[in-house]
Order: sequence, then structure tokens, then C-alpha cells
Amino acid sequence: MIKFPDNFLWGSAISAYQVEGGINKSDWSSLFPADQACDHYNRYEEDFDLLENQKVFRFSIEWSRIEPSEGEFSEKEIEHYRNYLKSLKKRGIKTMVTLHHFTSPTWFFDKKSWTKSDNVQFFVRFALRMLEEYHDLVDFWITINEPLIYCSKSFLVKDWPGPSKGVFAFIKAVRNQIKAHKAVYKAFHERKDVEVGLSKNNQFFQGVTFVDKIVCSLSRYLWNRYFLNQIRKEMDFIGINYYFHRKIKFLRKKKSDNVTDLGWDICPEGIYWVLMENKRYNLPIYITENGLADSKDEKRISFIRDHLIWVKKAIEDQVDVKGYCHWSLIDNFEWDKGFNPRFGLVEIDYRDLSRSKRPSFSFYNEICLNNGIK
Ligand code: BGC
Repeated sequence: MIKFPDNFLWGSAISAYQVEGGINKSDWSSLFPADQACDHYNRYEEDFDLLENQKVFRFSIEWSRIEPSEGEFSEKEIEHYRNYLKSLKKRGIKTMVTLHHFTSPTWFFDKKSWTKSDNVQFFVRFALRMLEEYHDLVDFWITINEPLIYCSKSFLVKDWPGPSKGVFAFIKAVRNQIKAHKAVYKAFHERKDVEVGLSKNNQFFQGVTFVDKIVCSLSRYLWNRYFLNQIRKEMDFIGINYYFHRKIKFLRKKKSDNVTDLGWDICPEGIYWVLMENKRYNLPIYITENGLADSKDEKRISFIRDHLIWVKKAIEDQVDVKGYCHWSLIDNFEWDKGFNPRFGLVEIDYRDLSRSKRPSFSFYNEICLNNGIK
């Protein structure tokens, strides 16, 4: 039995746009409509039943529902998320709330969203309203999910909705997200005793030759550390999302045979090195996402087991890892890739929206119950 520390928080994660359905005022709504998605907005009680032995649930509040037009806050939607949070609390589940998970309201987009520093105030105003409404129901606040993935996809390469494209738009968006995180952190702490962090996508870069290794060091600095360095004094914990292994061989990326349905390398050891790299910040770490697209559920059990073995090793090597959220509880809308990639412990049949637990669900549920791997 591989045991985890007492009170280790086991859980799973989702985000609003990917599961709720019926979101039509976000910047994704017209370009990449998620339609009814998993109808989680109406079926959240049924989905919370699936948490069973889990102790924490990470989800996002959809800004475009709360503030569909600039400055107009919807009481109905505020009430909705209050009931949602209360339901989790009633079940004894800790709540981890993300305030920005890749989506913004269309009115914010029309103002050129994150490329304008004046727009940061709108996000802070929304965040403060959420604090005022829900401070007694939220255990962990996550300001922004994966800022570098978001800014590169939306502003640099523009695979995702973004109001302008190019290196300058990207740099401005990153700087404004840093500014937004710091402002929210400060404003929250001035008002309440809260735990505020950010979810960062960090990658395992591995090089072969001397030159590859230099490329890896640079990538580690720019991708893994730069953003966190900027906000290191404004975090109560670090959220780490781990998915990617970047194997650089003779300056080219090399893929292995063990890949997910999306062709992403499976490299459990990478989570260990990514965690070790974050030891320098001396902060508690929550793994806020880790998972894979695997429609046949052939690799998920070994994926979870192997990654957790490496997480345990990082804990033994003095990394203060306090929890793990699997991505994801249920299948969902995988952004520009649509509904085909299946990330869920629970399968969604999109014809009738029925939920069925995959074998990996029971495997993970046992881990949560036993606080360890048998
Ligand atoms: C995101 C999720 C996404 C997952 C799998 C993360 O980058 O936060 O929204 O579904 O990875 O791609």
C-alpha cells in the first residue's frame, strides 16, 4: 500500500464552459459553441453524487453568466452558484473555485479583453463580487487557469478566440494577467482570510544533447517559472496542471509510442520533476489537473497509478503536495477539439446525456477512500 499524508485532498476538476451547457454570452459561444455540453448546469446534483469518496472539487464560475453585460450582475446566476456551492458543502466537499478558465464575456472581448491594461479592473470587480457573495462557501480561490496556455492559444497563434493576434498582443495579455492576479490577491486579502492561488500548466522538458539541454533550461525558465516568479509573493498555494512531456532531441521534439488519444506523450516521471522544480517557492502545492484523453479507458488506470507513485516520491523528497485533482470527473468539451477527446472518469453519452462510470472511476474512488494506492 502506498500511503499519502493524512488529510491529503483527493478530488477532480471541471470548468464551466466545458460542461455546463447553455453559455451563450462568452467569447467562445459563437466560434466554438458547446451547446448543451453535459448539461451540468441542470444536472450538477447528479454529478456531485459521482464524487463519492472525493474530498475536493475544482470548478469555474462562468463570468459571462454572472455579468452578461458590462456592470450588470445577474442575481439569478449568483443564486445558482450559491446553491451549487452549498450543495458541495452539504456533502462535506471542499470547494476550489476558478475565476477565469479560458472564457470571458463577449463585452470584455469587444473591449479587446486582456490586451488592454485598463480592462484588468473589470476582472477584479467581478472577482470581488464573487468574494463578497461566496467567501464563506469557498475553500480555495484560483484566479486564473493556465495563463500561458490561454495567452499563447488566444493571442499568439490564435487557435482560440482572441481579439488581436501577434507577439505584442501575447506579451500584453500575459502582463495583464499577472497584474490581474496580483490585484485580486491583494484585494481578497485586504477583505478576508482566504487562500488564493493560480493554476499553472508546467511541463517536463527533457533534452539529449548539450544544445538540447540548453534549450530545455531556457524553456523551463520561460514556460514553467517566469509567470510564477512574477507572482511568488502573491500566492498562498500553487496549483500545478501537469500533462506534457517535451522531449527535445537534436533540437526537435520527439514523440514516444506511449501516447494519449490526443497524441500527448505519457510520462509519469515528469510530474515528479515538475513538482521538484516548484520546491523553490516554498508553498503548498495542489495538483489542480492531471489526466488524459482515453476514450476506451485502456490507459487511465495505469496513468493514474504511475503518476501518483511519482507524486508520492516528490512528497518523500520534501515537496509539500497537499492534494490531487484528476482531470476530469466527466467527459467534456475539449475547447477547439470539440467533444471527441474523452477525459472523464465518467463517460457521457452525448445522445441522451447519461453518465456511466468507467473502470478507472472505481480505481480512483478506492484511492480516495484508502488515501493511497493498493
Ligand atoms: C485545461 C482544461 C483542458 C485540459 C485538457 C487544461 O489545459 O485547463 O480546460 O480540458 O487541459 O486539455
